[in-house]
Amino acid sequence: AKSRKVGQKHHLTLWYSITLVARSVMASASCLGLVVLVAMASAASAQLSSTFYDTSCPNALATIKAGVTAALNTETRMGASLVRLHFHDCFVDGCDGSVLLADTGSFIGEQGAAPNNNSIRGMNVIDNIKTQVEAVCKQTVSCADILAVAARDSVVALGGPTWTVLLGRRDSTTASKTNAENDLPPPTFDLQNLTTLFGNKQLSMTDMVALSGTPR
Ligand code: HEM
Repeated sequence: AKSRKVGQKHHLTLWYSITLVARSVMASASCLGLVVLVAMASAASAQLSSTFYDTSCPNALATIKAGVTAALNTETRMGASLVRLHFHDCFVDGCDGSVLLADTGSFIGEQGAAPNNNSIRGMNVIDNIKTQVEAVCKQTVSCADILAVAARDSVVALGGPTWTVLLGRRDSTTASKTNAENDLPPPTFDLQNLTTLFGNKQLSMTDMVALSGTPR
């Protein structure tokens, strides 16, 4: 997996098809740490839309793209790291930004789970972009959306394909180490185990191979 590149044909073009429903909370001011503004505690599945921020934060996408460009200018590898961070966010309870939450007194989060511990990267990049997005629109754009767009912008910036990111995810207020260890693929899994794990997310073997990529 280390040799994965983000530019090959098909890589991640299926990503937007993964279910993107998350718990419904207002966008908070920061991506790291616990979200405190809970607007609606009940689970909700709103319709995602590519135009979700067109009125509420017209500069959101340009701000995210600029942040990704700056991060990649510092370190090209960060593009790959952001793609993986998005994947690891989405596989655990949906693309809800939960991977960004550090442990708190009330939960042990995903960052210390074996498939994440000392290998996921880019949380600070997302937090820096969130700060820049907050400067243009307060508490409007979710961290989960920022991560989803940043992953796409990374792939494009490094010469890969583009895809439309549907927006309107809400950030989780909690995270689960146990769920991360159950849902993320360990490097020891064989084909059958991997196929089952991806199947649990309604992803076929073709999807799994396309997402995982092959050397150029
Ligand atoms: C099929 C099961 C998969 C397994 C078992 C797996 C496992 C791994 C492992 C062990 C690493 C190295 C982590 C480290 O630096 O120590 C890695 C890196 C990576 N994986 Fe996966 N992976 C899988 C699928 C995927 C998928 C579906 C994607 C894309 C959506 C992906 C994207 C990446 C990327 C981009 C890196 C490099 C990250 C970086 O350099 O920061 N992987 N993976």
